[in-house]
Amino acid sequence: MRGLILSGGKGTRLRPLTYTGAKQLVPVANKPVLWYGLEAMVKAGVTEIGIVISPETGDEIQQVTGTGDRFGAELTYIRQDHPSGLAHAVKSSQDFLENSPFVMYLGDNLICDDLDRFIEQFKAESLDALILLRQVKNPRAFGVAEVDEQGKVLRLVEKPQNPPSNLALVGVYFFSPQIHESIAQIQPSARGELEITDAIQHLIDGQHAVQAEELKGWWLDTGKKDDMLEANRILLDERCELSFQGTKDDQTHLVGRVEVGKDSQLTRCSVRGPVMIGRNCILEDCFIGPYSSIADGAVLRGVDIEHSVILEGAIVEGIDSRIVDSLIGRRAKLSRAPSQPKAYRFLLGDDSHIEIP
Ligand code: TTP
Repeated sequence: MRGLILSGGKGTRLRPLTYTGAKQLVPVANKPVLWYGLEAMVKAGVTEIGIVISPETGDEIQQVTGTGDRFGAELTYIRQDHPSGLAHAVKSSQDFLENSPFVMYLGDNLICDDLDRFIEQFKAESLDALILLRQVKNPRAFGVAEVDEQGKVLRLVEKPQNPPSNLALVGVYFFSPQIHESIAQIQPSARGELEITDAIQHLIDGQHAVQAEELKGWWLDTGKKDDMLEANRILLDERCELSFQGTKDDQTHLVGRVEVGKDSQLTRCSVRGPVMIGRNCILEDCFIGPYSSIADGAVLRGVDIEHSVILEGAIVEGIDSRIVDSLIGRRAKLSRAPSQPKAYRFLLGDDSHIEIP
C-alpha cells in the first residue's frame, strides 16, 4: 500500500498566512500539520509516500520536509499544476501510485485514530474505497454520507441543504486502483473542481465495494484560524510534556506541562501549561497562558497571551491587553507605538484580521 498526502490547494480560508506560505506547514503544537499524517502513515507501515504540492508552495514544503529519512519514509513530490480538486490531485499522482492501493490524507487534516485497523479492514474486505466518517453538529457545511446498518455507503452529498445524516466525510481515505477509472469518468463540479466525492459516488453507482467507518476520536481540519487554534489546543493537551532546555532567571515560574526548546531565554515570566515554546525564543516580563504555542525565534516582551499560536520569528512587545485566540504569522511585528501611545499604527497584509476593544 502507498500513501498520498495532498498539500497543494489554494488555502483561501487561511489568508493572509497562505499568501506567503503553505497552510500545511503552519505548526500545530510546534510541528507542521502535514507531518502528523506522514507520521501516522509510517506508523501503520506505509513508507512509500507521495506528497502533492502546488507550484507556489511546493518548494517550501519540499525544503522543510526533505527526502523522508527523518520519518523513515521514501517521499516523492508530485506537482499539481493547478488546484483543480482532490480527484484531480489523485489524477496528477497516477505515475507515482501505479496500480497500488493507497491511503490518501488531506495535508491540513488530523485524526486521533491510528491507521492500521482501517488498512486491515480495507484489505480483509477487498474494498474499492473505505471512507471515514465523523458525527458533526452542522452537516450542511460538509460532504455527508448516507450509510446502511452494515456501514455500506449508499450515497454521498456535498454540503446538503437537507442532510441525510450527521456523518461528515473525514479527510482520510483508502482506495483501490479502481478509483482512477471513476476519476476518468467524472466531470468538474459547479465550482470547477474534480471532486473526490463524485468519484466515490461513481464507484457506488458501479456497484463497487465502498464501506464507511465512524471515527470515535477527534478529527481536525486546520483550514481556518479557529480550527487551527482548536487543533493546537487538543494536541497540546495530548502531547505536551514537561521539558526545559532553555535558561530562566529565578523570577520565572513554570506551572504544569511546559516545553521549552534549546537556547530560549525566559526572564521574569510566568508560564502556565500546557504551553510549547520553541528554540531561540526570548521572553521577558510575560504571562503565557494555557494552550499557547510559540515557534522558534519568537520574541515576546511585556505580553500577556493565552490560547494563541505565534509563528517563527514573530515579535510582540508591550501590549497592555491580554492577547487571546490569536494566530500571529511569521516575522509579524506587534508593538506599542512609543511616540503616540493612544494611537494605532498598522501595516497589515491583505485579508488580515484585527479586533480592537
Ligand atoms: P481544501 O482545504 O479543501 O482546499 P484548499 O487548500 O484550496 O483551501 P481553501 O478551501 O481554504 O481555499 O483542500 C484540502 C487539502 O487538499 C489541502 O491540504 C490542500 C489539498 N489540495 C490539493 O492538494 N489539491 C487541490 O486541488 C485541492 C483543492 C486541495
